[in-house]
Parts: sequence; structure tokens; C-alpha cells
Amino acid sequence: MTRLSVNINKVALIRNARGENMPNLIQFAKDCEDYGAQGITVHPRPDERHIRYDDLQPLKDVVKTEFNIEGYPNEKFVEKVLEVKPHQVTLVPDPPGVLTSSEGWDTAKHKGFLIDIIEKFKVNGIRVSLFLEADPEAVKSAGQTGTDRIEFYTGHYAKNFLKNKENAIESHILAAKEAINQGLGVNAGHDLNLDNLTYYVNAIPNLLEVSIGHALISDALYYGIENVIKMYLHKISQ
Ligand code: PXP
Repeated sequence: MTRLSVNINKVALIRNARGENMPNLIQFAKDCEDYGAQGITVHPRPDERHIRYDDLQPLKDVVKTEFNIEGYPNEKFVEKVLEVKPHQVTLVPDPPGVLTSSEGWDTAKHKGFLIDIIEKFKVNGIRVSLFLEADPEAVKSAGQTGTDRIEFYTGHYAKNFLKNKENAIESHILAAKEAINQGLGVNAGHDLNLDNLTYYVNAIPNLLEVSIGHALISDALYYGIENVIKMYLHKISQ
């Protein structure tokens, strides 16, 4: 069964717009879990424009399902993640200041760096996932880094889904098969939404988790967060 991890970055973005504590991010995370979310994801960026580093410990203290922190492993990020010890850290190759994550690691090029950093998290009992393109070669070299899981970048899938969904999913199926060969768990995320989610979940073998933020929070403006979480869970189970 694929788990739904709700990315709450956009909630922090609204909170930060007024410098007060509305909406209350911590309460929102608790509510998401009460409504059925099976994980909470956050992605602190160096400019802290949405999630702030000081949000991490209070979130860890309340999240009862799975707490996943994503981000580029610079010195500060590594230090904070080791301090907070979430259940999972997802390493993303974002340059500072980027609007959103739009590519996966070049695992062959950065293998040495990744091996060292992954080891640091794993000796501290934190599961590691690497954000990757849906490319069997990238998966193969990820298999040599010590990572537990990989997260497929689904941005291209989401765009191409509208034109030709069979074509859009092809590389993801091949890459997921390679993940099975490498003994890696598979997560996925970026631009997944109510239209493209079911097709993805049904096509990818052993998909453990999807993390969804932008579309889900946008849908909540119309339907409310409780309904929306149930709608996404329904799409996953269809
Ligand atoms: N996975 C990663 C690594 C991300 O950076 C993001 C966006 O923060 C997501 C998943 C979720 O993407 P979206 O907000 O488009 O659902």
C-alpha cells in the first residue's frame, strides 16, 4: 500500500506572510494525521521562506506517523536533521534560491559525496531517500551509495501525462524495476495531483510513498483539508 505524506511547505508560506502564527503549522500537521495522512513532509530551504529550521523539532515532537525532511544536504541542513532525527531524510540536489526542485541527483557524478553523507544519517538511525530522475542508470548507481530508498521526480511525468500517459510512465516503470533489482524502496513526488495520481500508483511496482504538497494544499482551498486528504487517499486506493 502506498502511503500519503502531506508536504506542508505552503502552509508555512501563508503563515510567514504575516509574521504571526496563523495558520498554526503544528496544529495543521496534527490535523492532517487525524484526517488520514500517513506522513508529514517538509522542505526547509536556505532562505527559510516557508519551513524554518526552528519548525523542525516542534513538528518532530507531534508527528506520530512518519516525519520526512527533504532538502539539499548543506552543513546547516545536515546538522539540523541529525539533531531532530526524523524518520526519513530525502536528499535533493537543489541549488540555493531555486523556486522548486526540478531534477534528481546525478548519482554517478556525486557518488562519493552521497556515500559519506548517507552514512552520517544512517548511523543516526535515519532512513535515507535520494531524489532521482526516473532513469535505470541513475537507480543503478544510487544502489551503490548506501541509500535505503529513492524518490522519483514526477514533474516530467505530470507534464507528459496530459499528452500521452503511457509514454509518460514508461521510464518510471523501468526505473522502478531497477530499484527492485537494487533492493531499494521507491517513493515519488512532485506535481502529483488528483488527476494523475491513480495511474501512477497503479503502474509503479512497490511504490511505498508519495509526497504531495502544491496541488493538495491548493485543492484544500476549495474542498477543505479533511476532504482533500480523503480524496487523495481514495485516489491512491482506487
Ligand atoms: N518531493 C520533493 C523532493 C520536493 O522538493 C517537492 C516540493 O517541495 C515535492 C516532492 C512535492 O511536490 P509538490 O509540491 O509539487 O506536490
